[in-house]
Amino acid sequence: MNFKGQHLLSVKDINLDLISELFNVADSMRIYATRQKVSRVLEGAVLGNMFFEPSTRTRVSFGCAFNLLGGEVRETTGLSNSALAKGESLYDTAQVLSGYSDIIAMRHPDPGSVAEFATGSRVPVINGGDGANEHPTQALLDLFTIHKELASQGKNIQDLSLTLLGDLKHGRTVHSLCQLLALYRNLKIQLISPEALSMPAHYVDLLTDAGHQVEVGNCLQQGLPTANVIYQTRIQEERFSTQEEANNYRGYFRLNKRIYSEHCQPGAVIMHPLPRDSRNDANELDNDLNTEPGLAIFRQTDNGVLVRMALFACILGVENQLKQYERDVNWFTGLNNRSE
Ligand code: NCD
Repeated sequence: MNFKGQHLLSVKDINLDLISELFNVADSMRIYATRQKVSRVLEGAVLGNMFFEPSTRTRVSFGCAFNLLGGEVRETTGLSNSALAKGESLYDTAQVLSGYSDIIAMRHPDPGSVAEFATGSRVPVINGGDGANEHPTQALLDLFTIHKELASQGKNIQDLSLTLLGDLKHGRTVHSLCQLLALYRNLKIQLISPEALSMPAHYVDLLTDAGHQVEVGNCLQQGLPTANVIYQTRIQEERFSTQEEANNYRGYFRLNKRIYSEHCQPGAVIMHPLPRDSRNDANELDNDLNTEPGLAIFRQTDNGVLVRMALFACILGVENQLKQYERDVNWFTGLNNRSE
């Protein structure tokens, strides 16, 4: 299997060879993302960027990634602004929108909705998050970030000791990440959450069956000392049946400079898919961590553009033509001084 012409609906479609190919292409995108060069390899192509659920970075980084390769972006946001609110089926919407686009990225609140949409699409569809189910592109950029962060410390994936923290029941990013991690063997993975928000059993089984050393717990401190990568998540309040229920967990796990210094390994990497809940009663990743070198959350968002550029290039089959459509940047940019 390769990416060309394929939908990306789930990380189940991915294997280690595809990951390695994708990450090599993502590395080759850095010169364009940091504006050292321009490539117009997708000039004339159109991305349909369909976001029927709130999003900032996923939506904008899909659009930005497509623009950086020279393509155009057409966008719709919010269920209430779309014909889905008039009772149109996902199948019909897909038939229509795929007539306007070369590729579609879509987010929707219902699990399975993006796959259903894909059955009516005449062009490849990328899942930008379907309810609490999956978020494959986030998992890929998270894994890419884990690789990069470990490499910057002279380590590789086999050295990983990862703690996933927070709402592991509803967090689609960690659901997809666990499925990718199940492609590896013998890693250390700690799953720390309030008891009622623990990782669904089938993901725990998947990790255990892959031969990982999995520890499940409910106490923040338990997950910190052994981890070289800590992945904090937001309480997914939009997936609870009532706001009151969600409020019970707000601020349940908070990481700040004091806790980090006392309980974490020096230089431990801190990740978060973002948005982090920075309201006073939540404050899940305190601003006092902003100057901590281990805080990788904005390197992670920068990596999201590289990985999404790579996905577009591979799915549309232009990953070997980037240089052919390359030219110099003719405007002032501070971005090309950015380090890896
Ligand atoms: C995540 C999502 O939407 O699942 N955000 C993202 O895409 N970067 C995580 C979240 O909303 O908490």
